[in-house]
Amino acid sequence: KQELQERALKAGGVSYEESLQATQMVPTMFERMGQVDGCQELSRLFYNRVFDDSDAVWFLNIFSSSTKEEAIENQYLFFAQTFGGPDLYRQKKGKYTRLVGRHANYGIGHRAADHWVKHMKAAIEEHSHLKDDQQAKDALYQYFQYTAHYIVAASDYMRPDQLSGGTAIDAGRIW
Ligand code: HEM
Repeated sequence: KQELQERALKAGGVSYEESLQATQMVPTMFERMGQVDGCQELSRLFYNRVFDDSDAVWFLNIFSSSTKEEAIENQYLFFAQTFGGPDLYRQKKGKYTRLVGRHANYGIGHRAADHWVKHMKAAIEEHSHLKDDQQAKDALYQYFQYTAHYIVAASDYMRPDQLSGGTAIDAGRIW
């Protein structure tokens, strides 16, 4: 676990502790973003950018098995839960978030993580509730930068045939 945290720090420049701020703020990130509608807005702004990214076909191809609307929904339910709102993602997907396991089949590397975060950063800048909240924007960036590189570092550990079982990473907290 700790080794993965160190690898994520090395790859992304943000520590586990720094990444936690977004999930522990008062008032919560969920409130600052505009609750469920605000989570949906962030997810939509992000996926608009991803699905319009025809300059980086290698990146767009990672999303080829999903529809844009499904992807937006999965992500905003997760945001609501992660940033201090109701546990909407758990209600849809069950007890474990399994973020690493759910990404492990896409073959995501650190280059893809950087590209993902670039789109997310632009989405954060555009978000209607975050314009004057630099503290929230910085915390979100740190959370996503750390988590994206953690997902990549941890995915290297997992083989596809291990994914459906209950591994240590499945059961753990992986943001
Ligand atoms: C799902 C790619 C990082 C949260 C997905 C999907 C893809 C993907 C292709 C499937 C879309 C769908 O149908 O829902 C990537 C790539 C990343 C990345 C290339 C770069 C490292 C992240 C990060 C987070 C995140 C940093 C959150 C902190 C999610 C969530 C889902 C998802 C919640 C829905 C999973 C499900 O319920 O099936 N991602 N992702 N992803 N991603 Fe990522």
